[in-house]
Amino acid sequence: MDFVKFGIIGIGNMGSGHVRYIGELSNCRLTAVCDINPKAFDRINAATREKIKCYTDVDTFLKEADIEAVIIAVPHYFHPDLAIKALKAGKHIIVEKPIAVHKKEAERLIAEGAKHPELKQSLMFNQRIIPTHKKIKQLIDNGELGKIRRINWVITDWFRSQAYYDSGDWRASWRGEGGGVLLNQCPHQLDLWQWLFGLPKTVRAVVKFGKYHDIEVEDEVNVYMEYEDGTVGNFIASTGEMPGDNRLEITAEKGKLIYEDGKITFVRNEIETSEFCKTTKKSFGIADKWICQIPVNNEAAAHQHRNVIENVANAILKDTPLLAPMAEGIRGLELGNSMLLAGLKDKVVTLPMDSDEYAAELEKLVATSRYQKKVVVNEATADDMAKSY
Ligand SMILES: NC(=O)c1ccc[n+]([C@@H]2O[C@H](COP(=O)([O-])OP(=O)(O)OC[C@H]3O[C@@H](n4cnc5c(N)ncnc54)[C@H](O)[C@@H]3O)[C@@H](O)[C@H]2O)c1
Repeated sequence: MDFVKFGIIGIGNMGSGHVRYIGELSNCRLTAVCDINPKAFDRINAATREKIKCYTDVDTFLKEADIEAVIIAVPHYFHPDLAIKALKAGKHIIVEKPIAVHKKEAERLIAEGAKHPELKQSLMFNQRIIPTHKKIKQLIDNGELGKIRRINWVITDWFRSQAYYDSGDWRASWRGEGGGVLLNQCPHQLDLWQWLFGLPKTVRAVVKFGKYHDIEVEDEVNVYMEYEDGTVGNFIASTGEMPGDNRLEITAEKGKLIYEDGKITFVRNEIETSEFCKTTKKSFGIADKWICQIPVNNEAAAHQHRNVIENVANAILKDTPLLAPMAEGIRGLELGNSMLLAGLKDKVVTLPMDSDEYAAELEKLVATSRYQKKVVVNEATADDMAKSY
Protein backbone atom coordinates (compact mmCIF):
# COMPACT_ATOMS: atom_id res chain seq x y z
CA MET A 1 0.00 0.00 0.00
CA ASP A 2 1.50 3.36 -0.97
CA PHE A 3 -0.92 5.75 0.68
CA VAL A 4 -2.27 6.45 4.17
CA LYS A 5 -5.97 6.69 4.96
CA PHE A 6 -6.61 9.95 6.83
CA GLY A 7 -9.53 11.23 8.86
CA ILE A 8 -9.99 14.78 10.17
CA ILE A 9 -11.72 15.85 13.40
CA GLY A 10 -13.03 19.43 13.19
CA ILE A 11 -14.08 20.77 9.80
CA GLY A 12 -13.87 24.48 10.59
CA ASN A 13 -11.58 27.08 9.04
CA MET A 14 -8.47 24.92 9.32
CA GLY A 15 -9.96 21.44 9.02
CA SER A 16 -11.71 22.37 5.76
CA GLY A 17 -8.34 23.58 4.44
CA HIS A 18 -6.81 20.21 5.31
CA VAL A 19 -9.63 18.50 3.35
CA ARG A 20 -8.34 20.35 0.27
CA TYR A 21 -4.60 19.77 0.87
CA ILE A 22 -5.01 16.04 1.41
CA GLY A 23 -6.77 15.77 -1.95
CA GLU A 24 -3.59 17.08 -3.60
CA LEU A 25 -1.28 14.43 -2.11
CA SER A 26 -0.46 11.14 -3.81
CA ASN A 27 0.52 9.38 -0.55
CA CYS A 28 -2.72 10.25 1.29
CA ARG A 29 -6.44 9.48 0.96
CA LEU A 30 -9.15 11.26 2.92
CA THR A 31 -11.66 8.59 3.91
CA ALA A 32 -13.66 10.14 6.77
CA VAL A 33 -14.29 13.34 8.72
CA CYS A 34 -15.87 14.11 12.07
CA ASP A 35 -17.43 17.28 13.46
CA ILE A 36 -19.96 17.67 16.27
CA ASN A 37 -21.73 20.24 14.12
CA PRO A 38 -23.09 18.56 10.95
CA LYS A 39 -23.35 21.97 9.23
CA ALA A 40 -19.55 21.91 9.09
CA PHE A 41 -19.73 19.22 6.36
CA ASP A 42 -21.26 21.83 4.00
CA ARG A 43 -17.72 23.19 3.72
CA ILE A 44 -16.66 20.06 1.81
CA ASN A 45 -17.28 20.04 -1.94
CA ALA A 46 -19.77 17.53 -3.36
CA ALA A 47 -17.17 15.44 -5.22
CA THR A 48 -15.10 14.89 -2.07
CA ARG A 49 -18.18 14.25 0.07
CA GLU A 50 -19.23 11.37 -2.15
CA LYS A 51 -15.93 9.61 -1.44
CA ILE A 52 -15.84 10.01 2.35
CA LYS A 53 -17.92 9.17 5.43
CA CYS A 54 -19.06 11.96 7.78
CA TYR A 55 -19.43 11.36 11.53
CA THR A 56 -20.77 13.57 14.32
CA ASP A 57 -19.57 11.38 17.16
CA VAL A 58 -15.83 11.09 17.81
CA ASP A 59 -15.96 7.68 19.50
CA THR A 60 -17.93 6.13 16.62
CA PHE A 61 -15.58 7.81 14.13
CA LEU A 62 -12.49 6.39 15.85
CA LYS A 63 -14.07 2.94 16.19
CA GLU A 64 -15.69 2.53 12.79
CA ALA A 65 -14.11 4.82 10.20
CA ASP A 66 -11.64 3.32 7.74
CA ILE A 67 -8.71 5.49 8.87
CA GLU A 68 -5.08 5.00 9.89
CA ALA A 69 -4.21 8.58 10.80
CA VAL A 70 -6.17 11.50 12.25
CA ILE A 71 -5.73 15.25 11.99
CA ILE A 72 -7.14 17.06 15.03
CA ALA A 73 -8.34 20.56 14.10
CA VAL A 74 -10.75 21.56 16.88
CA PRO A 75 -10.52 24.39 19.45
CA HIS A 76 -7.31 24.14 21.47
CA TYR A 77 -8.70 22.85 24.79
CA PHE A 78 -9.77 19.63 23.07
CA HIS A 79 -6.45 18.80 21.42
CA PRO A 80 -5.08 16.62 24.27
CA ASP A 81 -8.28 14.68 24.93
CA LEU A 82 -9.00 13.94 21.29
CA ALA A 83 -5.35 13.13 20.54
CA ILE A 84 -5.29 10.69 23.48
CA LYS A 85 -8.52 9.05 22.27
CA ALA A 86 -7.02 8.69 18.79
CA LEU A 87 -3.78 7.18 20.14
CA LYS A 88 -5.75 4.73 22.27
CA ALA A 89 -7.70 3.78 19.14
CA GLY A 90 -4.36 2.99 17.42
CA LYS A 91 -4.27 5.98 15.04
CA HIS A 92 -1.28 8.04 13.97
CA ILE A 93 -1.95 11.72 14.76
CA ILE A 94 -1.30 15.24 13.54
CA VAL A 95 -2.38 17.73 16.21
CA GLU A 96 -3.09 21.32 15.22
CA LYS A 97 -1.12 23.98 17.04
CA PRO A 98 -1.00 24.63 19.95
CA ILE A 99 -0.41 21.14 21.34
CA ALA A 100 -2.54 22.16 24.35
CA VAL A 101 -3.64 25.30 26.17
CA HIS A 102 -1.14 24.83 28.98
CA LYS A 103 1.98 22.87 29.81
CA LYS A 104 0.37 20.41 32.24
CA GLU A 105 -2.07 19.27 29.55
CA ALA A 106 0.77 18.93 27.04
CA GLU A 107 2.64 16.77 29.57
CA ARG A 108 -0.44 14.54 29.87
CA LEU A 109 -0.67 14.08 26.11
CA ILE A 110 3.08 13.48 25.66
CA ALA A 111 3.00 10.86 28.45
CA GLU A 112 0.24 9.01 26.58
CA GLY A 113 2.15 9.39 23.31
CA ALA A 114 5.19 7.72 24.89
CA LYS A 115 3.06 4.60 25.43
CA HIS A 116 2.51 4.32 21.65
CA PRO A 117 5.97 4.47 20.01
CA GLU A 118 4.59 2.53 17.02
CA LEU A 119 2.31 5.49 16.13
CA LYS A 120 3.63 8.62 14.39
CA GLN A 121 2.77 11.76 16.34
CA SER A 122 3.23 15.15 14.73
CA LEU A 123 2.24 18.74 15.36
CA MET A 124 1.07 21.11 12.60
CA PHE A 125 4.11 23.39 12.77
CA ASN A 126 3.79 24.28 9.10
CA GLN A 127 6.03 27.35 9.40
CA ARG A 128 9.07 25.09 9.92
CA ILE A 129 8.63 24.24 6.22
CA ILE A 130 9.15 27.84 5.06
CA PRO A 131 12.53 27.91 3.25
CA THR A 132 13.61 31.26 4.77
CA HIS A 133 13.07 29.81 8.26
CA LYS A 134 15.07 26.71 7.35
CA LYS A 135 17.83 28.94 5.94
CA ILE A 136 18.03 31.01 9.15
CA LYS A 137 18.33 27.77 11.14
CA GLN A 138 21.07 26.53 8.83
CA LEU A 139 23.01 29.81 9.21
CA ILE A 140 22.78 29.66 13.01
CA ASP A 141 23.56 25.94 13.30
CA ASN A 142 26.55 26.24 10.92
CA GLY A 143 28.03 29.05 13.03
CA GLU A 144 27.76 31.63 10.23
CA LEU A 145 26.52 34.27 12.72
CA GLY A 146 28.87 33.38 15.58
CA LYS A 147 27.66 33.63 19.14
CA ILE A 148 24.24 35.29 19.36
CA ARG A 149 24.02 38.30 21.68
CA ARG A 150 20.48 39.59 21.19
CA ILE A 151 17.31 38.45 19.43
CA ASN A 152 14.47 40.88 18.69
CA TRP A 153 11.26 39.63 17.14
CA VAL A 154 8.46 42.10 16.46
CA ILE A 155 5.47 40.11 15.28
CA THR A 156 2.59 42.54 15.11
CA ASP A 157 1.20 41.70 11.67
CA TRP A 158 -1.45 39.45 13.23
CA PHE A 159 -4.10 42.19 13.05
CA ARG A 160 -7.52 40.80 13.93
CA SER A 161 -10.81 42.74 13.86
CA GLN A 162 -13.59 42.55 16.43
CA ALA A 163 -15.60 40.66 13.79
CA TYR A 164 -12.94 37.93 13.84
CA TYR A 165 -13.18 37.57 17.61
CA ASP A 166 -16.98 37.56 17.42
CA SER A 167 -16.96 34.84 14.71
CA GLY A 168 -16.81 31.95 17.21
CA ASP A 169 -18.05 32.16 20.77
CA TRP A 170 -15.14 30.03 22.08
CA ARG A 171 -12.65 32.56 20.72
CA ALA A 172 -10.64 34.92 22.92
CA SER A 173 -12.27 33.81 26.20
CA TRP A 174 -10.45 32.12 29.08
CA ARG A 175 -12.98 29.32 29.24
CA GLY A 176 -13.38 28.73 25.52
CA GLU A 177 -9.85 29.35 24.20
CA GLY A 178 -7.55 29.80 27.18
CA GLY A 179 -5.38 32.60 25.78
CA GLY A 180 -5.02 35.22 23.06
CA VAL A 181 -2.22 36.30 20.77
CA LEU A 182 0.31 34.02 22.53
CA LEU A 183 -1.89 30.94 22.21
CA ASN A 184 -3.72 31.43 18.93
CA GLN A 185 -1.58 33.54 16.59
CA CYS A 186 1.99 33.18 17.95
CA PRO A 187 2.49 29.41 18.47
CA HIS A 188 4.35 29.37 15.14
CA GLN A 189 6.78 32.13 16.17
CA LEU A 190 7.18 30.64 19.66
CA ASP A 191 8.00 27.27 18.11
CA LEU A 192 10.43 28.87 15.66
CA TRP A 193 11.98 30.80 18.54
CA GLN A 194 12.74 27.65 20.53
CA TRP A 195 13.70 25.76 17.33
CA LEU A 196 16.23 28.45 16.36
CA PHE A 197 17.50 29.68 19.74
CA GLY A 198 16.40 27.20 22.43
CA LEU A 199 14.57 28.23 25.58
CA PRO A 200 15.66 31.14 27.79
CA LYS A 201 16.38 30.85 31.50
CA THR A 202 14.16 33.73 32.62
CA VAL A 203 11.16 35.61 31.22
CA ARG A 204 9.72 39.02 32.18
CA ALA A 205 6.70 40.49 30.41
CA VAL A 206 4.12 43.22 30.21
CA VAL A 207 0.87 41.69 28.95
CA LYS A 208 -2.25 43.67 28.06
CA PHE A 209 -5.67 41.99 28.11
CA GLY A 210 -8.37 43.29 25.76
CA LYS A 211 -6.40 46.48 25.05
CA TYR A 212 -7.60 46.86 21.46
CA HIS A 213 -10.63 44.54 21.39
CA ASP A 214 -13.63 43.63 23.49
CA ILE A 215 -12.04 40.32 24.57
CA GLU A 216 -10.91 38.71 27.84
CA VAL A 217 -7.51 37.47 26.76
CA GLU A 218 -4.22 39.14 25.82
CA ASP A 219 -3.91 41.13 22.58
CA GLU A 220 -0.51 42.77 23.23
CA VAL A 221 2.68 41.46 24.85
CA ASN A 222 6.13 42.95 25.41
CA VAL A 223 8.58 40.32 26.62
CA TYR A 224 12.21 40.36 27.77
CA MET A 225 14.13 37.09 28.07
CA GLU A 226 17.60 36.12 29.31
CA TYR A 227 19.60 33.02 28.47
CA GLU A 228 22.08 31.18 30.69
CA ASP A 229 24.95 32.41 28.44
CA GLY A 230 23.96 36.10 28.59
CA THR A 231 22.03 36.26 25.29
CA VAL A 232 18.92 38.42 25.61
CA GLY A 233 15.66 38.30 23.68
CA ASN A 234 12.81 40.74 23.09
CA PHE A 235 9.50 39.48 21.77
CA ILE A 236 6.69 41.88 20.89
CA ALA A 237 3.35 40.65 19.60
CA SER A 238 -0.04 42.26 18.99
CA THR A 239 -3.31 41.70 17.15
CA GLY A 240 -4.23 45.39 17.39
CA GLU A 241 -1.73 47.11 15.08
CA MET A 242 -2.21 47.95 11.43
CA PRO A 243 -0.01 47.82 9.42
CA GLY A 244 1.99 45.50 11.63
CA ASP A 245 5.51 44.12 11.31
CA ASN A 246 7.13 40.74 11.17
CA ARG A 247 10.77 41.59 11.75
CA LEU A 248 13.37 39.31 13.28
CA GLU A 249 16.80 40.73 14.11
CA ILE A 250 19.61 38.53 15.35
CA THR A 251 22.63 40.45 16.59
CA ALA A 252 25.65 38.17 16.82
CA GLU A 253 29.45 38.25 16.98
CA LYS A 254 29.86 38.03 13.20
CA GLY A 255 27.19 40.57 12.34
CA LYS A 256 23.46 41.17 12.24
CA LEU A 257 20.79 39.12 10.46
CA ILE A 258 17.55 40.87 9.56
CA TYR A 259 14.54 38.89 8.37
CA GLU A 260 11.66 40.99 7.09
CA ASP A 261 9.22 40.87 4.14
CA GLY A 262 10.37 37.30 3.42
CA LYS A 263 13.98 38.45 2.79
CA ILE A 264 17.09 37.64 4.80
CA THR A 265 19.84 40.24 4.96
CA PHE A 266 23.09 39.58 6.77
CA VAL A 267 25.30 42.55 7.61
CA ARG A 268 28.62 40.77 8.09
CA ASN A 269 31.39 42.19 10.27
CA GLU A 270 34.92 41.92 8.87
CA ILE A 271 36.10 41.15 12.43
CA GLU A 272 34.02 39.62 15.22
CA THR A 273 32.64 42.28 17.57
CA SER A 274 34.45 41.18 20.76
CA GLU A 275 37.75 40.77 18.87
CA PHE A 276 37.42 44.26 17.36
CA CYS A 277 36.48 45.70 20.75
CA LYS A 278 39.64 44.26 22.35
CA THR A 279 42.15 44.93 19.57
CA THR A 280 41.23 48.22 17.88
CA LYS A 281 43.25 51.30 18.83
CA LYS A 282 40.40 53.59 17.71
CA SER A 283 38.14 55.10 20.37
CA PHE A 284 35.24 55.45 17.96
CA GLY A 285 34.08 53.76 14.77
CA ILE A 286 33.26 50.16 13.90
CA ALA A 287 34.83 47.42 11.75
CA ASP A 288 34.18 47.29 8.01
CA LYS A 289 31.10 45.32 6.99
CA TRP A 290 29.50 43.63 3.96
CA ILE A 291 25.81 43.68 3.28
CA CYS A 292 24.82 40.20 2.03
CA GLN A 293 21.41 39.31 0.65
CA ILE A 294 20.89 35.60 1.40
CA PRO A 295 19.26 33.93 -1.61
CA VAL A 296 16.36 31.57 -0.84
CA ASN A 297 13.94 29.87 -3.20
CA ASN A 298 10.72 30.41 -1.29
CA GLU A 299 8.32 28.51 -3.57
CA ALA A 300 7.79 25.74 -1.00
CA ALA A 301 6.33 28.34 1.39
CA ALA A 302 3.04 27.99 -0.49
CA HIS A 303 2.70 24.32 0.51
CA GLN A 304 3.29 24.43 4.24
CA HIS A 305 0.35 22.44 5.67
CA ARG A 306 0.38 20.09 2.69
CA ASN A 307 4.05 19.32 3.26
CA VAL A 308 3.53 18.51 6.95
CA ILE A 309 0.74 16.04 6.08
CA GLU A 310 2.87 14.54 3.30
CA ASN A 311 5.80 14.20 5.72
CA VAL A 312 3.64 12.33 8.25
CA ALA A 313 2.38 9.98 5.52
CA ASN A 314 5.99 9.31 4.50
CA ALA A 315 6.89 8.73 8.15
CA ILE A 316 4.13 6.11 8.35
CA LEU A 317 4.94 4.49 5.00
CA LYS A 318 8.74 4.77 4.91
CA ASP A 319 9.81 5.75 8.42
CA THR A 320 10.94 9.18 7.17
CA PRO A 321 11.86 11.40 10.17
CA LEU A 322 9.08 13.77 11.28
CA LEU A 323 9.61 17.47 10.56
CA ALA A 324 7.63 18.48 13.64
CA PRO A 325 7.39 15.73 16.28
CA MET A 326 4.40 16.34 18.57
CA ALA A 327 6.43 16.24 21.80
CA GLU A 328 8.41 19.30 20.66
CA GLY A 329 5.18 21.31 20.86
CA ILE A 330 5.53 21.64 24.63
CA ARG A 331 8.57 23.90 24.27
CA GLY A 332 6.92 26.80 22.46
CA LEU A 333 3.82 26.33 24.63
CA GLU A 334 5.92 26.59 27.78
CA LEU A 335 7.53 29.75 26.41
CA GLY A 336 4.11 31.33 25.74
CA ASN A 337 2.70 30.19 29.11
CA SER A 338 5.72 31.63 30.91
CA MET A 339 5.24 34.98 29.13
CA LEU A 340 1.60 35.12 30.19
CA LEU A 341 2.44 34.07 33.77
CA ALA A 342 5.20 36.71 33.99
CA GLY A 343 2.73 39.39 32.87
CA LEU A 344 -0.14 38.20 35.06
CA LYS A 345 1.93 37.97 38.23
CA ASP A 346 4.32 40.80 37.33
CA LYS A 347 7.29 38.59 38.19
CA VAL A 348 10.35 36.98 36.66
CA VAL A 349 9.48 33.43 35.58
CA THR A 350 12.31 30.87 35.55
CA LEU A 351 12.19 27.98 33.08
CA PRO A 352 11.37 25.12 33.37
CA MET A 353 8.09 26.72 34.43
CA ASP A 354 5.98 25.14 37.16
CA SER A 355 3.09 23.67 35.17
CA ASP A 356 0.90 23.32 38.31
CA GLU A 357 1.27 27.01 39.09
CA TYR A 358 0.24 27.97 35.56
CA ALA A 359 -2.74 25.57 35.58
CA ALA A 360 -3.92 27.06 38.89
CA GLU A 361 -3.66 30.63 37.52
CA LEU A 362 -5.57 29.64 34.41
CA GLU A 363 -8.30 27.99 36.51
CA LYS A 364 -8.79 31.34 38.30
CA LEU A 365 -9.17 33.15 34.96
CA VAL A 366 -11.56 30.49 33.67
CA ALA A 367 -13.68 30.98 36.80
CA THR A 368 -14.11 34.67 35.93
CA SER A 369 -14.75 34.05 32.21
CA ARG A 370 -17.90 35.52 30.73
CA TYR A 371 -18.03 32.57 28.32
CA GLN A 372 -20.14 30.22 30.39
CA LYS A 373 -20.27 27.02 28.36
CA LYS A 374 -19.06 24.01 30.25
CA VAL A 375 -15.36 23.46 29.72
CA VAL A 376 -13.15 22.31 32.59
CA VAL A 377 -9.51 23.20 32.11
CA ASN A 378 -7.93 19.91 33.10
CA GLU A 379 -10.76 17.56 32.30
CA ALA A 380 -12.16 18.88 29.03
CA THR A 381 -13.79 16.16 27.03
CA ALA A 382 -15.33 15.99 23.62
CA ASP A 383 -18.61 15.17 25.34
CA ASP A 384 -18.50 18.44 27.28
CA MET A 385 -17.98 20.32 24.07
CA ALA A 386 -20.68 18.39 22.23
CA LYS A 387 -23.17 19.27 24.98
CA SER A 388 -22.17 22.89 24.90
CA TYR A 389 -22.77 23.39 21.17
N1 LIG B 1 -1.65 25.55 11.58
C1 LIG B 1 -2.28 26.67 11.27
O1 LIG B 1 -1.78 27.46 10.46
C2 LIG B 1 -3.64 26.96 11.86
C3 LIG B 1 -4.43 27.97 11.30
C4 LIG B 1 -5.72 28.17 11.84
C5 LIG B 1 -6.17 27.40 12.92
N2 LIG B 1 -5.34 26.46 13.45
C6 LIG B 1 -5.79 25.65 14.63
O2 LIG B 1 -6.86 24.82 14.26
C7 LIG B 1 -7.75 24.65 15.38
C8 LIG B 1 -9.17 24.96 14.91
O3 LIG B 1 -9.24 26.32 14.53
P1 LIG B 1 -10.35 26.81 13.48
O4 LIG B 1 -10.03 28.23 13.18
O5 LIG B 1 -10.45 25.83 12.37
O6 LIG B 1 -11.66 26.75 14.41
P2 LIG B 1 -13.19 26.71 13.90
O7 LIG B 1 -13.99 27.20 15.06
O8 LIG B 1 -13.31 27.37 12.58
O9 LIG B 1 -13.45 25.15 13.67
C9 LIG B 1 -13.46 24.21 14.73
C10 LIG B 1 -14.38 23.06 14.31
O10 LIG B 1 -14.24 22.03 15.29
C11 LIG B 1 -15.55 21.52 15.58
N3 LIG B 1 -15.47 20.92 16.93
C12 LIG B 1 -15.36 21.57 18.12
N4 LIG B 1 -15.21 20.69 19.11
C13 LIG B 1 -15.27 19.45 18.55
C14 LIG B 1 -15.18 18.16 19.08
N5 LIG B 1 -15.02 17.95 20.38
N6 LIG B 1 -15.27 17.11 18.23
C15 LIG B 1 -15.44 17.31 16.89
N7 LIG B 1 -15.53 18.54 16.34
C16 LIG B 1 -15.43 19.61 17.16
C17 LIG B 1 -16.46 22.70 15.49
O11 LIG B 1 -17.80 22.34 15.28
C18 LIG B 1 -15.86 23.45 14.29
O12 LIG B 1 -16.45 23.03 13.05
C19 LIG B 1 -7.28 25.61 16.48
O13 LIG B 1 -6.59 24.90 17.49
C20 LIG B 1 -6.32 26.54 15.76
O14 LIG B 1 -5.24 27.01 16.57
C21 LIG B 1 -4.11 26.22 12.93
